[in-house]
Amino acid sequence: MKLHSALLALTLTAPLVCAEEKVVGGPFVVNATNRGATVGWVVETGEVRVNAVRSVPVLASRHISMMGLKAGETVKYSLPNGAEGSFKVPATGAASFQAVVFGDTRTRHDLHRKIIEAITKVSPDFVAHTGDLVTDGYDTEQWPRFFEIEKPMLEKTAFYPALGNHERNSRHFYDFFAVTTPYYSFDWGLAHFTVINTDLGNVALSATAKEAFWAEQNRWMEDDLAKSQKAEFRFIIMHHPPFTAVKSRQAGNQAVVALLPLWEKYRVTATFAGHDHNYQHHLKNGIHHIVTGGGGAPLYPVDAPIEGTTQKVESTEHYVRLMVEPGKAKIQAVALDGRILDTFDLAAAPAAK
Ligand SMILES: [Fe+2]
Repeated sequence: MKLHSALLALTLTAPLVCAEEKVVGGPFVVNATNRGATVGWVVETGEVRVNAVRSVPVLASRHISMMGLKAGETVKYSLPNGAEGSFKVPATGAASFQAVVFGDTRTRHDLHRKIIEAITKVSPDFVAHTGDLVTDGYDTEQWPRFFEIEKPMLEKTAFYPALGNHERNSRHFYDFFAVTTPYYSFDWGLAHFTVINTDLGNVALSATAKEAFWAEQNRWMEDDLAKSQKAEFRFIIMHHPPFTAVKSRQAGNQAVVALLPLWEKYRVTATFAGHDHNYQHHLKNGIHHIVTGGGGAPLYPVDAPIEGTTQKVESTEHYVRLMVEPGKAKIQAVALDGRILDTFDLAAAPAAK
């Protein structure tokens, strides 16, 4: 395979795969921008025996940073162990693209695998995950299974994950996906994506520290949204939804509800969340709020649609396609059997003054 010339400029941030290391995750591509990206993989460096009956793997992350990429091009790469992958570099300007957003892949691995097969078939330019990748982010037995199931998809596309409560703010999430904060943003074409961490329960131990995190993330998000006002579309990706049609969950997520005025002020087009294991589409004050938690976790009922706000709900495994063209965009929710659950257009925001 002919390696892209950008590989010549790669910066090593970790040792190459050693003979005793076994690759148990990846390759995957994170932090993709129109200039650079991080290729990551996960290795098992050994195992710890517990009570002489069970082995727990010791995992470590490996990354390289690619610089000097060209917006919109496809980059192919190969790891030292021969594993190959490719991804598209985010396009700039008036470019068309399609993405997939999905989430809550933590259990029912057979269904998780089927969702990945379905997503891989539609060849998205990139994939965003709304969180709860695994059941317990600290459990090193679970991450290799997550990566094994997602391999056919991750080796072909850029990946932008949000932190879910089941990751438990584990350092593995930060290590594997090469992020220093659980909030970040990126641009693709004329769309802007802001990924935030809504898992206040695990972000810190004390109430004071949780409040400090939330204040800092919100300060960053407001600055990020203010800087993106020339984009035609703005999207939020997170784990906890502001609206839910699951009756038993409607009292929660008040901190996220409190963000609605900020999103309205800065003309957010749509939000994508997970946490509730079903498909939900709500519309409030011009912003579409999507819940896409149908990646394999046990389904929740949608027993309490919100009058005047809820547009469509269905309790089924699914993923969501986002198709963007200059001046217009469309969202389509697709069930595991290929049935279209919901489809609607998004209006481009008028040019910022
Ligand atoms: Fe969750």
